[in-house]
Amino acid sequence: MEARTPLESRTIITDLVLPSETNPIGNMFGGELLARMDRAAGIAARRHSRRITVTASVNHVAFNKMIPLGSVVTVEAKVSRAFKSSMEIYMDVWIEDRESGMRSKANEAIYTFVAVDEMGNPVPVPPVKPETDLEKERYDAALRRRQLSLVLAKKMDAKDATELKALFQ
Ligand SMILES: CC(C)(COP(=O)(O)OP(=O)(O)OC[C@H]1O[C@@H](n2cnc3c(N)ncnc32)[C@H](O)[C@@H]1OP(=O)(O)O)[C@@H](O)C(=O)NCCC(=O)NCCS
Repeated sequence: MEARTPLESRTIITDLVLPSETNPIGNMFGGELLARMDRAAGIAARRHSRRITVTASVNHVAFNKMIPLGSVVTVEAKVSRAFKSSMEIYMDVWIEDRESGMRSKANEAIYTFVAVDEMGNPVPVPPVKPETDLEKERYDAALRRRQLSLVLAKKMDAKDATELKALFQ
């Protein structure tokens, strides 16, 4: 299968934070952001694989900044690396200042999606060809993150997680 670039899967969802999406101190619920990220990641995975895709795991989410009511929130998702049937989706979350229009990074997250057939069985996906320095960095680190996710899910023996072990040597 021919490799696809992260740009080919890039998915951008921009939307406001409404009152029903906030907590009692007027900031966006984490679950609302997780749902928006899941949608963006699902579309990116579908653009990359051109198959049905399902969320396999949420590997990492950092809620670094509060997102106030009325904010304009942009989720940008790209497939950072593909393995056999699974894809790592890396997401950056931005909010924009009303007066200056400047964007600032609020959060980031990494999800794993798996491409499946109509019966829900995993199917192969094309590899990723990273282009920018950031895409190359995320591509390289994705193997380590995959091993961590599989070890935590008890789907890989820690002794086989060679990339992870290399971090501690
Ligand atoms: C995700 C799913 C398809 C994996 O199926 P499975 O029978 O475990 O298949 P496998 O063990 O062959 O794994 C398939 C791929 O998923 C990857 N995978 C499975 N669990 C994973 C996890 N926790 N983290 C990262 N990757 C994972 C495997 O590494 C494998 O990747 P590869 O083909 O690139 O090597 C299956 O568990 C499923 O359908 N889950 C429900 C998905 C869903 O409904 N999501 C929405 C939740 S509301």
